[in-house]
Amino acid sequence: MPETDVEKHAPSPDFVKTAHVDAAKYEEMYAASIADPDAFWGEHGKRIDWIKPYTKVKNTDFTYGKVDIRWFEDGTLNVAANCIDRHLKDRGDQTAIIWVPDEDDGSDQHITYQQLHAHVGKFANVLKEMGVGKGDRVVIYLPMIPQAAYAMLACARIGAIHSVVFAGFSPDALASRVNGSEAKVVITADGGPRGGRVTALKDNADKAFAKVNHDAKMLVVKRAGNDISWTQGRDHWLHEMEDKVSDDCPAEEMNAEDPLFILYTSGSTGQPKGVVHSQGGYIVYTAMTHQYTFDYHDGDIYWCTADVGWVTGHSYIVYGPLANGATTVMFEGVPTYPDAGRCWKVCQDHGVNQFYTAPTAIRALMGKGTEFVEKYDLSSLKVLGTVGEPINPEAWNWYNDVVGKGKCPIVDTWWQTETGGHMLTPLPGATPTKPGSATRPFFGVQPVVLDPESGKVKEGNGVEGVLAIADSWPSQMRTVYGDHDRFMNTYFQQYKGYYFTEDGCMRDEDGYYWITGRVDDVLNVSGHRMGTAEIESALVAHKAVNEAAVVGVPHDVKGQAIYCYVSLMDGNQPSDELKKELQDWVRGEIGPIAKPDYIQWAPGLPKTRSGKIMRRILRKVAVNEHDQLGDTSTLAEPEVVDDLIENRLNK
Ligand code: WT7
Repeated sequence: MPETDVEKHAPSPDFVKTAHVDAAKYEEMYAASIADPDAFWGEHGKRIDWIKPYTKVKNTDFTYGKVDIRWFEDGTLNVAANCIDRHLKDRGDQTAIIWVPDEDDGSDQHITYQQLHAHVGKFANVLKEMGVGKGDRVVIYLPMIPQAAYAMLACARIGAIHSVVFAGFSPDALASRVNGSEAKVVITADGGPRGGRVTALKDNADKAFAKVNHDAKMLVVKRAGNDISWTQGRDHWLHEMEDKVSDDCPAEEMNAEDPLFILYTSGSTGQPKGVVHSQGGYIVYTAMTHQYTFDYHDGDIYWCTADVGWVTGHSYIVYGPLANGATTVMFEGVPTYPDAGRCWKVCQDHGVNQFYTAPTAIRALMGKGTEFVEKYDLSSLKVLGTVGEPINPEAWNWYNDVVGKGKCPIVDTWWQTETGGHMLTPLPGATPTKPGSATRPFFGVQPVVLDPESGKVKEGNGVEGVLAIADSWPSQMRTVYGDHDRFMNTYFQQYKGYYFTEDGCMRDEDGYYWITGRVDDVLNVSGHRMGTAEIESALVAHKAVNEAAVVGVPHDVKGQAIYCYVSLMDGNQPSDELKKELQDWVRGEIGPIAKPDYIQWAPGLPKTRSGKIMRRILRKVAVNEHDQLGDTSTLAEPEVVDDLIENRLNK
């Protein structure tokens, strides 16, 4: 359990003076948001331009069997127009996106709101030309280039539903997402440069298309200039298509509850699910959290290092910041290329005011020494953020002292793909922080700590259990694409009347929340969420593998490492070559982020007499706590455990 009785870091009086929200205002607004959600969100919904204003605000039901989430349901709007057109009058010449390429060669681009408008209009007309209309699905498989943002906004402009697939995913993972949404068009690039190496994205997309079982087209952005193959009739260059169309594309009038995007995420069972977010509530909430959580002021330069392949990139590189008319930095590369000073150089070059990254990146940079930070002028920084996993106090302190020089509030934001936006987070001018705590709820969010067994709410402070949310917030996911039952069964079945987050947590004596990690079979590797079930099914798809069980073990930089127990089919012998082959196999099936760190050969897996694998035991063995195996009396063959203990890796 985390140490909660630690020193609090309060924002400086100077910071508080100019902050959007101070401590008193937080209390007042939070209380109002809970007392009367309709009045609160009815008011804050006005930060967005509506074509037809809503008359209804909240209409939500968490009852298992009838879960139904609607916000602003009779309002109409266009999200892209909110992110672009409405800013043209006052800030057409302001930079909307600063694009920083992989190579540090001075070719950074500034894209103004006016230019963004033209690019997105053209892109939208290209999609229309390719037969995409309102409600159609478009898969985006791109590197971190401006066209990724244009593509998302172009879909939003014409009412198409985008599904961004992280460029690090394999052809198989891409194919299953293209098939799952019956996408009409897949947008990719010839290649994606990252850390000095080019990922052959078009090549991956070609391989994926061999498994796509419906008619789909490919739209290709020229980026890396690498050789690619071409299928006439199916493949189209973006620049050639753009020559044929105008940059003027009217924004489609969308209902607040029409889907905006699908984003696949991992769970404890089965294949990843398509999380569906809708238009109105999502844009209201991401814009508001972007402004308040980062204390964003007009003219600030804001940088989130995430990839648009994840929800963080959707909500806090593209939609939230652009809805606020912000300047948002989009970075193609990695924090350690060409060296570990890259992030700080970008902060200096562009005068970054708010910097938002993941604990795994902080830990990796911390390991390289402070000289990479000290070389650069970081005086522009005002707020630092983290997201994706619990941050350990060592990394928090380094971030605070070395990067923030003790003057930048740190916002540790807890949220999920499913929540769309920040749920627990300090507000930098309002909330004294404690290293490792995501502190308190954002407006409208009602966290509860439940007893994991009884499901009873634990009242008061100094309690521990699982984290659930008692009522809806505007950017909540609406359904699992094509499977509303799966949505209800995953999040609303176990604890009736609540949204279950699948995270463990404690609420300390000050009412601060501390996330203790997933309580399901989901791993968090370098801030990437991955189901053990997905890795297991990739392993057993290999002809030599009979059975596999995957657990997470602590890792200094990645947070968790992937530890696999594998038992082989008769006739196969364990060998280092086979180990390597299996690692490459999983990498090929899912992507580099899923590559197993450890593969332990297991003659058998510990199972109950009914055949259920006892992961609890496998977890304990992997971390060398086999003296704490607990009750093993229900094991069918207790002796397999001895072999596993003896041959443990990760020593
Ligand atoms: C899971 C969600 C939301 C954007 C990135 C991840 C973990 C996320 C924190 C945090 C502790 C965190 C949780 C959560 N998580 N932020 N600040 N402190 N844990 O989105 O891939 O949907 O993963 O990430 O376990 O359930 P995601």
